[in-house]
Amino acid sequence: MKKTLGKSICLFSGKGGVGKTFLTLCLAGIYRTLEKKVLILDMDLSGGNIALAMNKPYEKTIYNFVDDYINNRFKSLDDYVTHYNEFIDILPSPKDPRQATKIDSKYIEIALEKACIHYDVVLVDTTHDLNETNLVVLDLVDQILFVMQNDPMDLKNMKSLLSIFRDLEKSNYKILLNNSRDPFKKYFTMFDLKNVLKANIDYVLSSEFYLKNIDSYIMNGEIVTLQPKAANVFNKDYTVLMKMAVEFLGKEESDNGEN
Ligand SMILES: Nc1ncnc2c1ncn2[C@@H]1O[C@H](COP(=O)(O)OP(=O)(O)O)[C@@H](O)[C@H]1O
Ligand SMILES: [Mg+2]
Repeated sequence: MKKTLGKSICLFSGKGGVGKTFLTLCLAGIYRTLEKKVLILDMDLSGGNIALAMNKPYEKTIYNFVDDYINNRFKSLDDYVTHYNEFIDILPSPKDPRQATKIDSKYIEIALEKACIHYDVVLVDTTHDLNETNLVVLDLVDQILFVMQNDPMDLKNMKSLLSIFRDLEKSNYKILLNNSRDPFKKYFTMFDLKNVLKANIDYVLSSEFYLKNIDSYIMNGEIVTLQPKAANVFNKDYTVLMKMAVEFLGKEESDNGEN
């Protein structure tokens, strides 16, 4: 009954509003389809929307986990998560944004460690700030997914992020160009983007994955990639998400569905 440690994956970006939270949910849906137990850790500490987007009432948050841990009341991570379905759990961000500043990053490390013991995949949704907690998360996770859009500001921010990562000699990242967030943003050619970034773009989501009715999914707490026809309707982009999800699991895991 050997259980390997789960994979931790963080979605990050050079600026806000590029689709990280939406893609976190999409990936959770894909991993559920692969029958992986998933925890979504909402590290957008002062404004996280994961629990809202999943339309789940909840009591406990990452703040309660940290508070109880410090005060020796912690027993099990399960006491703090909210169940979305039989495969996906959420550890929501604090209810009161003022609690965000009271979260010491060293307890985020503990939460991540515990999560990787209990889940096959831990998806960490973040803000785009290079603040203390995000730096800790970026340092600890197995895999980082940089999400960017095709516009000058995002390109500039992505370029500086990549140079920071090169300085830190960190290479456990992939870059996703998200053309679905705003189908009108396509200023640069792929050649230009790669040339400026001096990096490969690993995955592209097309403008066909732009959802006019995205808010109705949110209001109904539905995950797009779990809709019965998603694989057909969004064929190309669904395939990209699936490929990415499997690659993040690494060789041993994707060859072997059980663990
Ligand atoms: N594929 C998409 N189609 C339509 N709207 C999208 C899509 N992806 C994201 N959005 C919308 O764009 C906004 C920003 O997305 P979000 O995932 O919150 O970005 P981030 O987490 O990077 O700040 C949200 O209002 C979201 O609903
Ligand atoms: Mg977000």
